Amino acid sequence: MKKFLTIVVVLLNVGFLRAQDAKMNDYVSKLMSQMTNDEKIGQLNLVTPGGANTGSVVSKDVDNKIRQGRVGGLFGITGPDKVRQAQEIAVKDSRLHIPLIFGLDVIHGHRTMFPIPLGLSCTWDTVLIEKAARIAAREASADGLAWAFSPMVDIARDPRWGRVSEGSGEDPYLGSVIAAAVVRGYQGKDLRNTETVMACVKHFALYGGAEAGREYNTVDMSRIKMLQYYLPPYKAAIDAGAGSIMSSFNEIDGIPATGNRWLLTDLLRNQWKFNGLVVSDYTSLNEMEAHGMGDLSTISALALHAGLDMDMVGEGFLTTLKKSLQEGKVSQKEIDQACRRILEAKYKLGLFSDPYNRMNMERAAKELLSGDNRKAARETAARSFVLLKNDNHLLPLKKSGTIALVGPLADNLRNMLGTWSVAGDPMKSVTVMSGIKNVARDVHILYAKGANIADDSMLVKRTNTLGIEIEPESRTAEAMIAEAVAAAAQADVVVAVLGEAADMSGESSSRSDIRIPESQENLLKALVNTGKPVVLVLFNGRPLILKWENDHVGAILDAWFPGTEAGNAIADVLFGQYNPSGKLSMTFPLSQGQIPIYYNAKNTGRPYAGDGNSKFKSDYLDISNDPLYPFGYGLSYTQFTYGPITLSTPEIAAGRPVTVRLTVTNTGNYDGEETAQLYIRDMVATVTQPVKELKKFQKVWLNKGESKEVTFTLTTDDLKYVNSDLKWVYDPGAFKIFVGGNSRDVVQADLMGIQARKTSTKGTMEKMPRN
Ligand code: NOJ
Repeated sequence: MKKFLTIVVVLLNVGFLRAQDAKMNDYVSKLMSQMTNDEKIGQLNLVTPGGANTGSVVSKDVDNKIRQGRVGGLFGITGPDKVRQAQEIAVKDSRLHIPLIFGLDVIHGHRTMFPIPLGLSCTWDTVLIEKAARIAAREASADGLAWAFSPMVDIARDPRWGRVSEGSGEDPYLGSVIAAAVVRGYQGKDLRNTETVMACVKHFALYGGAEAGREYNTVDMSRIKMLQYYLPPYKAAIDAGAGSIMSSFNEIDGIPATGNRWLLTDLLRNQWKFNGLVVSDYTSLNEMEAHGMGDLSTISALALHAGLDMDMVGEGFLTTLKKSLQEGKVSQKEIDQACRRILEAKYKLGLFSDPYNRMNMERAAKELLSGDNRKAARETAARSFVLLKNDNHLLPLKKSGTIALVGPLADNLRNMLGTWSVAGDPMKSVTVMSGIKNVARDVHILYAKGANIADDSMLVKRTNTLGIEIEPESRTAEAMIAEAVAAAAQADVVVAVLGEAADMSGESSSRSDIRIPESQENLLKALVNTGKPVVLVLFNGRPLILKWENDHVGAILDAWFPGTEAGNAIADVLFGQYNPSGKLSMTFPLSQGQIPIYYNAKNTGRPYAGDGNSKFKSDYLDISNDPLYPFGYGLSYTQFTYGPITLSTPEIAAGRPVTVRLTVTNTGNYDGEETAQLYIRDMVATVTQPVKELKKFQKVWLNKGESKEVTFTLTTDDLKYVNSDLKWVYDPGAFKIFVGGNSRDVVQADLMGIQARKTSTKGTMEKMPRN
């Protein structure tokens, strides 16, 4: 009966959706029948009048172009009044009154900034991440916007690449569940709801594979690597219903993504069944010329043919497609198809019913930076911090005594939000100094800046391109350090707040040297030399090299860039109001020479022996292969232990899942939350498999002394890999199962994968040879 009812509900739903689609098709077809080709091509044009400074060129003569029907969408402006003004030009002054779609880089919050995405991913908490995205959508939509250029789901294994700050780290599974959560958070159940925004998954695809971590650099990888390790998060975002996707700057198999038909049509549309809108990245269409793909008219035709619908800023479509149509280089069908997808997106967002549906001054006044939103940002930020070291329970700190609060980021409003906080106001953020004052009123603070964020003039100049984040002082480095050391000498404990400026990561912010800048390293060394206990609070948009720090500093708390409520959230954790629970979503190398380093690596034929004595192994003469902090790592003020694994059955087969059970115990002195992580290894396969792959995780709250049983269900779908025919397959044979609080420290069990084969006796299984 229940099954029958479910089928009825599904059929009704399908029927309803079909009817909706039919209505939309009719509407769009009717509208398109009135459009000239110029107007159709105009819809493919996405402009920015400037405002948000996210690229090196801005569109010209925007108002006139809107009037002439030569613009489909606009990004870069915010505020219901400003957005309304632009919409009025389109709706009142253009011939067919087609509304514009308004977008922006809403990346980690809109006005209320949440932690940078890399920090958010360290919460391993999809409910929390969905909620953060929902708040961002409510704020952005109250501010006039209908379209967020996010989530950025590029898997990355190279921390030199500045854009690791915008993604969810190195793992395809974690990246996938987070991508889906963000899409759900932005889009809700129905884009007609005016508190939603349409997601734009980016950057399709593989942008995170840039060689040498150098921004916009070449990407080259096998199809197997793409499909198994890099593409899953894009697919997950699309399966979650993302309305749009942005092509990336890089090439794939030698063809730039923006003009890559295999990517944009064969894979995205035909295999993945994506029916939304594909937009280029900022002038990525025009950049195909520099890639060496031909002149503007050739590459515009190539991109349209590949499956690109909308051209961001570059106006290649706007200026060449009409002629290309006359010359037969593109077809009417291709232009119509792209135009239809853009109009459909507007229809889905309810813009034809009410072009001003997201421009509401009252809602904006109530929603933007509201107390509730700030509270959520504070709680989320505290959960994103990763405790990297805590010797002798140095943390949490007492709410009494004297703290030397030192460092260029300790009392620094400008750098709390991190990169891509386009609509965020740094002046509305909370510094670490203010946070400590708010949370621990009785603590006596001795403040000293101690160093500039960086002294290297080239680094300072390049970091400050979008606004002054590093303001070097005229005092000498020695004088600044001396002041800090004097403060430390009078204090019970030193809290050193160091790291990167906000835009030392993000777009166009690759670094070849990912240590803390030298000026601050010198300060830290001087502070450690005082003999006082030192707590290092780090601001960073990427994994850093922290070997020296790990060897010499008592406690290290990685705060990433926490957003508007930075200082409050940091103080909450420093003083034990929240017990840190973040886990790394990206490996921290021991040394720059190990990069790229990631946990789901292959074993090789001569695996690392780890004993430092053997020759002819895949290792280095001068350092270990092990990272400083592995993927999944993160301490707590308490300790968690993992009991042995029991499997419901030693064998798994299709349709025969296995339950993995074990007990996790809080053996320390604080209540806290642990993230139990389950990894597998496929011991024999037709294509070599990594030594570990994350397949499941679960967050468990444990009071001190408490034990809980954690269970995971594994199916053969979880054991699939991409074979040489580029198919996801389950291959029977031996598997290892690992569970632990990070990817290194795990308990393990053996599991045998068998082939499900029905025999005459119902449900019996038989072991099959593997090949
Ligand atoms: C270029 C960036 O790569 C992309 O992420 C962003 O959405 C666009 N600029 C628009 O600002």
